[in-house]
Amino acid sequence: MAMTATVLLARAGRVLAAIVRNLRQPPRRARVVAKFALPVVLLCLLDVLLHILSYRIPRPPQDLDKPFATQCRDPLVAASQPRENATFVMLARNSDIETARQTIENIERQFNQWFHYPVLFINDVEWDPDFIRVLNTSTSGRATFHVVPEADWTYPEWVDSAAARQSMARQGMRGVYNGAKEAYHKMCRFYSGSFYKLEPLKQYKWYWRLEPDVRFTCAVTYDPFVEMARHGKAYGFTIALWEEPNTCPSLFRAVDDFRVQKQLPATDMWKAMFVPSWLPWPLRRLRAMFHAEHVSSSGDRWNLCHYWSNFEIADLDFFRGNLYQELYQHLDRQGGFWFERFGDAPVHSLAVHLLLKPEEVHHFSDIGYHHEPFFQCPGNAPGGQLHTNTALGTGKYSPESPGAIGCRCECLDDRRRNNRGICLNTMQTPLAFHRPTFLQRQRGQYPYTLNIP
Ligand SMILES: *[C@@H]1O[C@H](CO)[C@@H](O)[C@H](O)[C@H]1NC(C)=O
Ligand SMILES: *[C@@H]1O[C@H](CO)[C@@H](O)[C@H](O)[C@H]1NC(C)=O
Repeated sequence: MAMTATVLLARAGRVLAAIVRNLRQPPRRARVVAKFALPVVLLCLLDVLLHILSYRIPRPPQDLDKPFATQCRDPLVAASQPRENATFVMLARNSDIETARQTIENIERQFNQWFHYPVLFINDVEWDPDFIRVLNTSTSGRATFHVVPEADWTYPEWVDSAAARQSMARQGMRGVYNGAKEAYHKMCRFYSGSFYKLEPLKQYKWYWRLEPDVRFTCAVTYDPFVEMARHGKAYGFTIALWEEPNTCPSLFRAVDDFRVQKQLPATDMWKAMFVPSWLPWPLRRLRAMFHAEHVSSSGDRWNLCHYWSNFEIADLDFFRGNLYQELYQHLDRQGGFWFERFGDAPVHSLAVHLLLKPEEVHHFSDIGYHHEPFFQCPGNAPGGQLHTNTALGTGKYSPESPGAIGCRCECLDDRRRNNRGICLNTMQTPLAFHRPTFLQRQRGQYPYTLNIP
């Protein structure tokens, strides 16, 4: 034992001595290599530098998105104006009757009691008469109960359903979130594509998506549809966050390939979805050639950010438009709704960032929204609560907090985690004039602070 160690030590000593000798007096071959290697290394560094710089997003001349309201308004003033061509939509199962009712009663109290927008309920099976009776009574606007045509919900003819089911079982075993649930795959695909073509939605331009078991925790005292139209917006959201990476390894590549095929420019909005690669060009190519997960054909990675699509206020015409529908067809043909678990949230978000201008996207930073396990709950605007307004009533709400913009927000609990995160910041880069510094980000301070009470 001791012998081997001594021998090894002696050998290491000799190698070290040889290296030191070579360093003092490099052999000819090493000098030649250095002469050629040095320019290559410099070229690579330059390439990486230029590449990273090409993903820089310039600051716009002013903020391209501002809150529609920064305090309470008299809801009856907005309600006396004409309505937009809009509807609420909720996909629900008959068994969701209780949670669906809670959502509807909640949105009625916070908003729809003044505006009476219709609600379209959709289901993939026949409605239970009880559901219809209870939910019809809960809505102040017209309620419609629609059954999604089988063809919009189930496997298209080019997908082998047996193979898809096997794949889903494997996704479940690999721990893909909701990967084993066939109905979840169908729902994601439906919300990505055929939802927008539903017969009862054809008559509308705008939708507000609801889910059973969500809470709106502030009063909305203006008409978001009217403001969306007035400000030229096409997509509105509350929460942005990271996607589970194993649900959709090939999604980003597929969307970026579509962009290249259609010769769509890589706009600042599109760049905001990237983490540019620090690899030099040949390695970037290699990374793309081997279809690395979440990597585009340029060898750069998706930051996995997306808007949480269970809340959406958006323009149906954008999603019914040719480009979005072609993108959806492209993704659908690829099979990722079955053989991976493409979510409708990343599909919508990538489309929004590929096809819309920065000023067409709106963050509803004044809307309190809660869907387990995430929530956004603004603080209440100081001096802006219209304490004596009779339409707003006398319900309980949190104390006012400095710099906040909420109206009568009553957050559900005192958890300190509020959804103002890295993804929101990153996705807003093309629209935000005020950009938080590194230190501010560390401290959780952003341009329109939510001011958790
Ligand atoms: C909902 O209730 C209204 C008013 O009672 C009624 O006219 C309407 O037919 C009901 N709708 C459905 C789908 O049952
Ligand atoms: C509502 O919007 C749809 C889709 O854009 C349109 O076809 C319809 O004519 C609009 N209806 C009204 C009353 O403006």
